[in-house]
Amino acid sequence: MKSYRIIVIPGDGIGPEIVDAALAVLDKTQELAGDFRLSYDFRQAGAAYYQEHGENISAETLEAIRQADATIKGPVGLKGVRRPDGTEAGVLGGILRIGFDLYANIRPIKLLPKVATPLKNRAPESIDYVIVRENTEGLYASRGRGLVMEQAATDTLLLTRKGCERICHFAFDLALRKTKGAPEDGRRRVTLVEKSNVLRSFHFFREIFAQIAQQYPGVEAESLYVDAASAALVMRPEHFQVIVTENMFGDILSDLGGATIGGLGMCPSSNVGEERAYFEPIHGSAPDLIGKNRANPLSQILAGGMMLDYLGRKKEAALLDQAVWRALEKDLFYISPSGQVEGGAKRVTAALQEELERCYREGK
Ligand code: IPM
Ligand code: MN
Repeated sequence: MKSYRIIVIPGDGIGPEIVDAALAVLDKTQELAGDFRLSYDFRQAGAAYYQEHGENISAETLEAIRQADATIKGPVGLKGVRRPDGTEAGVLGGILRIGFDLYANIRPIKLLPKVATPLKNRAPESIDYVIVRENTEGLYASRGRGLVMEQAATDTLLLTRKGCERICHFAFDLALRKTKGAPEDGRRRVTLVEKSNVLRSFHFFREIFAQIAQQYPGVEAESLYVDAASAALVMRPEHFQVIVTENMFGDILSDLGGATIGGLGMCPSSNVGEERAYFEPIHGSAPDLIGKNRANPLSQILAGGMMLDYLGRKKEAALLDQAVWRALEKDLFYISPSGQVEGGAKRVTAALQEELERCYREGK
């Protein structure tokens, strides 16, 4: 039996409850599949860990992540827990993404059935694109390195040729790998989001993008300024299949995208490099929702599905997606316009376990 070593970081706030839900659903999947095993190694890290230990994560946990097959991470961060320089404490993004060179941050934005969206008259899957956020450079390369003086402060945006090339390749490869093209016309399309009308760094990115696009004749390539892209993601989201962009733009646009598909609680992500990956929701730890049984755990559960896919368990990943789809269709739980779920993680977990059993039974 194939066994995978998974590091689990429950995180802060609602992290532990939604991570529990994701593990319970993954456990159901392995029970039904019967031919693989996920062995979990639980590790504390984040803002509460910082308060106790003065660091966001231990060297030992980093080493464990280095050796594991994959890592599941809950949201981190707590109100008021800040570092001496005023930035948020407990944040692991910089440490894991840059530390392990996980240069691609994959953020699928897909409208599922019966989910309340602020956009009018939207059918499920009429929004179905993936944001490929460059994860190791851009403006956030300046993390912890900005210059603060008495009357001024500065952070620098860094784009390297290697960084632009590899993220563009990743985006085009993904456009080819995805089963469906853009909802609007079925075409495979990669859209670079940039601001080359103002900044030379983005012109550099755009030229590299155009060169790489030539290697993918089967994929349409286009560039869009980030301000226009923000409008298009609201007014014409069906146009997009894959979006590739700089680190901070991807951070902002993925929250915007999340808002169009039922909130950030619908948004999983993976952080992928050549050899390692970790899986997490795109949102924060929502401490005001702790214990209220209203947090939507789908972000974390779907991140678990992305992990299955990464580990090569394609069939299980697809069945999990199918179970989520069907559970929503049958109203086994309901995502409210504010993005919350009546019954919270427990209700969603029970519904998905039940639906997974049905999917497996029918699949046999
Ligand atoms: C995200 C988060 C992080 C980021 C924060 C917490 C540093 O917002 O994953 O989108 O900006 O990358
Ligand atoms: Mn973010």
